[in-house]
Amino acid sequence: MSSPDPSFKPFADAIGVFDSGVGGLSVLRAIRDALPAENLVYVADSGHAPYGDKSEAHITQRTLTIGNWLASSGVKAITVACNTATVVAIRHLREQTHIPVVAIEPAIKPATNTTRSGVVGVLATTQTLQSESVARLCQEHGTDKRILLQACPGWVEAVEQADLHSPDTESLLRQFLEPLMEQGVDTLVLGCTHYPFLRDSLQRIVGNDVTLVDPAVAVATELFRRLGDNRRMGANPIGTTHFFTTGNVAHVQYVVTHLWGEAAIVEAMA
Ligand code: DGL
Repeated sequence: MSSPDPSFKPFADAIGVFDSGVGGLSVLRAIRDALPAENLVYVADSGHAPYGDKSEAHITQRTLTIGNWLASSGVKAITVACNTATVVAIRHLREQTHIPVVAIEPAIKPATNTTRSGVVGVLATTQTLQSESVARLCQEHGTDKRILLQACPGWVEAVEQADLHSPDTESLLRQFLEPLMEQGVDTLVLGCTHYPFLRDSLQRIVGNDVTLVDPAVAVATELFRRLGDNRRMGANPIGTTHFFTTGNVAHVQYVVTHLWGEAAIVEAMA
């Protein structure tokens, strides 16, 4: 049997997207809507989720492993659909790749621009909230506002189990939302890509007067801009979507199908 050709690029001309797990599907949805003709390759690093309480060295190593796997499969751009990987490791990934790398970070700027009460809550992982990026964003945009940083351990795990509406999840959400509500927040930044999947429950708990801010559409718009003339045109504007995981394939396939809203085939990332 001949050995595989190392120059074969299975995903030449596609866009690579990854997250610690299934949360980045919230960004993938915005990319699919903005760029319907593109072929998309999504990697859920569910075998290593959550990233949010892991060491910086571990998150960097995972980010480089997946970023390099996508780059070597031929993708023309990478979107890091993970706030935690962005704030910890984006610099290292950009140093190692020659293709555009678009990333997501908590939408603190738009939230501070639109708050009426002047009190903004930022919901994210522990690593994201401890990062220099978040400190810089608070410094640049929050001097005349109150910005309350709230880590939400357990929320990522609930989404990884597709457990969005159970009583246990409801009480986990209330545990971190109620202290923020007591302090008068009117705007909540969804600073982790898993959290938009909890949006219905979050909105029900905090009420309709509180605005939830998710930067997924802004990320897709930035990707659209960065691709420029490299965007895929054509008579048939339906791109393919491939899913890979480092976790349990059957479980991730079940969860991806649930969150993505259509039957998905998930393969193991080799
Ligand atoms: N969804 C990711 C983020 O945006 C990672 C969450 C985690 O794995 O802890 O931060």
